[in-house]
Parts: sequence; C-alpha cells; structure tokens
Amino acid sequence: ATGADFVVVANRLPVDKKVRPDGSVVWKRSPGGLVTALTPTLETRSGAWVGWSGSASQDGSPEEKPDVEGIDIHPVPLSAAEVEDYYEGFSNATLWPLFHDLLVKPEYRHDWWEAYVRVNRRFAETAASAAAPNAMVWVQDYQLLLVPAMLRETRPDLRIGFFLHIPFPPTELFSQLPWRTDLLEGLLGADLLGFHLPGGAENFLTLARRLLGTRTSNGPITAREDFGAVEYDGRTVKVGSFPISIDSADVAAQATAAADRAVTIRAELGDPEVLLLGVDRLDYTKGIDVRLASLERLFASGRLDPAKTVMVQLASPSRERVDSYIDMRNRIEQMVGHLNGKYGTVARPPIRYLLQPVARDELLAYFRAADVMLVTPMRDGMNLVAKEYLAARADLGGALVLSEFTGAAAELGEAYLLNPYDDRDVDDAIEAAVTDPAEARRERMRILHDQVMTNDVDLWATSFLDTLAADA
Ligand code: G6P
Repeated sequence: ATGADFVVVANRLPVDKKVRPDGSVVWKRSPGGLVTALTPTLETRSGAWVGWSGSASQDGSPEEKPDVEGIDIHPVPLSAAEVEDYYEGFSNATLWPLFHDLLVKPEYRHDWWEAYVRVNRRFAETAASAAAPNAMVWVQDYQLLLVPAMLRETRPDLRIGFFLHIPFPPTELFSQLPWRTDLLEGLLGADLLGFHLPGGAENFLTLARRLLGTRTSNGPITAREDFGAVEYDGRTVKVGSFPISIDSADVAAQATAAADRAVTIRAELGDPEVLLLGVDRLDYTKGIDVRLASLERLFASGRLDPAKTVMVQLASPSRERVDSYIDMRNRIEQMVGHLNGKYGTVARPPIRYLLQPVARDELLAYFRAADVMLVTPMRDGMNLVAKEYLAARADLGGALVLSEFTGAAAELGEAYLLNPYDDRDVDDAIEAAVTDPAEARRERMRILHDQVMTNDVDLWATSFLDTLAADA
C-alpha cells in the first residue's frame, strides 16, 4: 500500500460504535465540535482518518472498520483499562479541567500518564503506517499532544500540523503538570501549531520561552514571539490562531428544509410565547446550570412568565463515568425538577430536558423553532453549537445569548453577550434577547448569520493547511 497524502489523527473517528443489547453493532455520528468541523473537511480532501471507535476492544480481536464514504478509516484499538486511564483519566480528568480554567480540580496520576504515552504512541504508529511519503498529517486536540514528536521520530519526511480544539491555558496553570516539559516537546514535533484564538497562541509561546529557555540539556532554545514561531531542535515551529467553524451552507440548507418540522415542534410544546433552547454535551464547562439558575430568578421575579415560556434543554450524554460529569448531571437534573415542580402545571412544565443524542435533522428543526438560543459556558474553546444556530437562521429569526468565555464570542460581537460569573448580567442578557424589539433582534441576526456564512469550516481548514504547506 502506498498510503494517503492527507491523514487526520484524532481521538475519535467520525463515527462511534454502539453495541445494541442483542449484540449487533451500529455506527453513529460521534459527538462534539471536532467531528462536526473535520468530517466535511476530510470528505472533500479524500484522506485517511486515524481514530478510536469509542468502545473498548477485546484483547486480540481485530478492530472493525466502519464504512464512511470518501474517508479511509484506520481504527486504533483501546483496551478497557486504556479507556479508563488514557481517555477518562489523563485526557478528561487531568487535561480537560486544567485547560478549562480549573473548573474542577485536575488529578495528576503517574499511571494515567503512562497509559497516555502508550496510547499516543499507538496513534503515532498507526498514522505513520497510513501516510504516504511526504504526506501531510494533521493531529487533533488534547488527547494526542505527544503524537507530533512521536511521528517525527520515525517519519521526518512528513509535514505535521497540530490543532487544539480547546483553550490553551496560561503558563501558571500548565506548569502544574508533572509532565509539562514532555507535553510541550511533544507538541513541538509539529511544523505548525494552531489554536482558536490569538490568546491561546500567545500562551503557548510564553510557555515555550519560559519552560525551554531555562533548559540547558538540549542547547539554547528561544521563542520568537513576534513571528509566532519557536526555534526548536534546529527547526522552526510556526504558531498561529485559526478560529474553527462549520459547514455553514450545508447547515443553512438543512435547516431550511426542516422549517415545517419547526412549526410542529412549537405546536407540540403548546405554542409557547417564548421558546428558549440549550443544546450541549452534558459537560460542566457548558454552564447549563448557569442558565437554569437564571430562569429560576427570572421566573421568581416575574421578569419571565413561566406560563408562557418553555425552555428545551437537549443534553447529549458525555464522559459518563467521570465523577465530575456525574456530579454535574445530578445538579442539572435536580434544578430541572425543582423548576418544574415550583413553576409548572401538570400539563405544562416550563423545562423540557432530554439526556440523549438527538438526530441531526431534528436538532436543526429545534434551531429553527427557538426564539432564543442559550450558550452560556464558563469556558469553551470555540462552541460550534452557537455557529450552527446562526447558520440555521437563514430566516433571520431568533436571537443568540452567548457567554464571553467562548472562543465564538471573539467573532460574534452582535450576540447578546454575557459574563456567566455575573448573575445579573446573565439575567439581563436573557431578558433582553426575549424582549428586544423584533427589528433590533433581526438586525443583530442579519450580521451574525452573514458572519458565519462567510467564515465557514472550509476557510478554517484551507488557511491552516495552506500555512502548513508553505515553506517554513
Ligand atoms: C470536544 C473535544 C473533542 C471531543 C468532543 C467530544 O469537542 O474538543 O476532542 O471529541 O468534545 O467529547 P468525547 O470525549 O465524547 O470525544
């Protein structure tokens, strides 16, 4: 086999393996923003995708290969112990909370680290065998920080890019990691490192200067902040910001096709005067509790009428065996029960909550139906749900309430922005999005919709890959 000229390496494959109770296997679209952005990118570039199927493999049994049109799939098997230590442990109980402002306390465990190193090596080996000579390999996200350097070791011919889909923290936080230098050197195996925002790129450059500038074992290393580059190991590693996006035209077209279903959804909900919507993975970073707490205050003070308001919260199950996720789920479910018990009638609870994945066309119909979309994370690298909502509103209806602590807020200044740490600000933003005159809401939506239609995922992928291909 000659291998592919373009290889994406990500923890997740674009499809997720689900084993039904009767033992049969179905493949479903994987959750999260990374897959949302990369699937259209790979389909148009017809490359290979190296990733994990989402379930633990039995030792020794070969990995099944799902059929995804236009993409050559290379599954990386993980044992049940590796799922616990590499995925739930180091990726999602160490790096995820550390990179999201310490919203929960990260755990630093050497046995998790060892599994992370081992699994990163397996991803690197699979990618090396999938890649043609001089191929371009694009490594994704915090689960695979060591892969760029591991790949370079055996395949110096490759052009290696890395993109981080979550925030990159300040040096003061990153330095808590007992393995901070190994992780930094892992990333520096790339030719180009991409972050969503300039702030993430700056944090990385500062880190490289402070951590490596004082090291002597590898010779002198300097970071040239003004060039967005790090000189390392005789090479130049470019560092830049590339805000990710979605397949805007596709979302707009599909949402328009779902317009009839949107009308039915409102009818099924009893034609409320105000329909609020939240769509998230159930994650403590998303601030689902923040919006529920605000509704409680708005109902209690009479600023919103619970008899005329419905909020739909669609939460998709995520990382369900990690303690901090179990805690947040319990908190949310307690709040939903409380709000419905206190402000509902038997026939009309104000909050409708689902904890299950929702089909794509149904989701787009909800976007089309909602008067106000609530995106209130405490911290979020980008938040593609906000962009999907805006693309879906080609009718220029609806309004977006958006946390300043998302990457998306940097581009979407016409949204109803809020600081999720400030109760009053949250309440005011939601109330304004509900009660502002229709013309003012429409004008904001016109600007926001245009912004997302213009800055789509193809622009993101093209600008990253063109920079990667350009001479250092
Ligand atoms: C975020 C991360 C992705 C991840 C996704 C879903 O978008 O940046 O890397 O794939 O969440 O999370 P999961 O743990 O289910 O893959």
